[in-house]
Amino acid sequence: MSVLKMAIFVVLLAVVSTPVHAKIRAVGKGDKMTFDPTQIPADLKQAFEIMKVKCIQCHTQERTVIAIQTGIAPVTGQPFDKQATKAYGIKMLRKPKSNMSREEVKKVVDLMNFLIDEAAKP
Ligand code: HEC
Repeated sequence: MSVLKMAIFVVLLAVVSTPVHAKIRAVGKGDKMTFDPTQIPADLKQAFEIMKVKCIQCHTQERTVIAIQTGIAPVTGQPFDKQATKAYGIKMLRKPKSNMSREEVKKVVDLMNFLIDEAAKP
């Protein structure tokens, strides 16, 4: 493939694969990825602190960021929308050694719902 064709291909791929929900910014890459803290309003900062500690005990925050940015749960491929966040929260809570309380999970679910709303804004 010529360099030009390659360049066109890369540009097309970027256009085609741009997620519909692109408004939620992430900072860091891979294992270090997390939500851009400047996007979290004051009343949800506490929930974000809980998320940063509790939701990275078994996997990285990247998983949650991808779920919210794309609207698809990355492991099972199921929709990750506001109808689903509570169920996912409870699923995580019920895992062995989840080390989270119902109250903490509820706060994180509220935060995820806020982020999903933000992601859906045109
Ligand atoms: C006790 C371990 C544990 C904790 C704590 C935990 N998770 Fe998970 N999480 C998992 C495992 C294991 C999976 C793999 C898929 C599954 O079993 O549901 C997963 C999968 C996920 C997925 C992808 C789901 C899918 O179906 O693709 C998301 C999103 C997620 N977790 C978010 C969170 C959030 C948000 C929190 C904090 C409230 C959290 N996790 C806390 C173990 C955990």
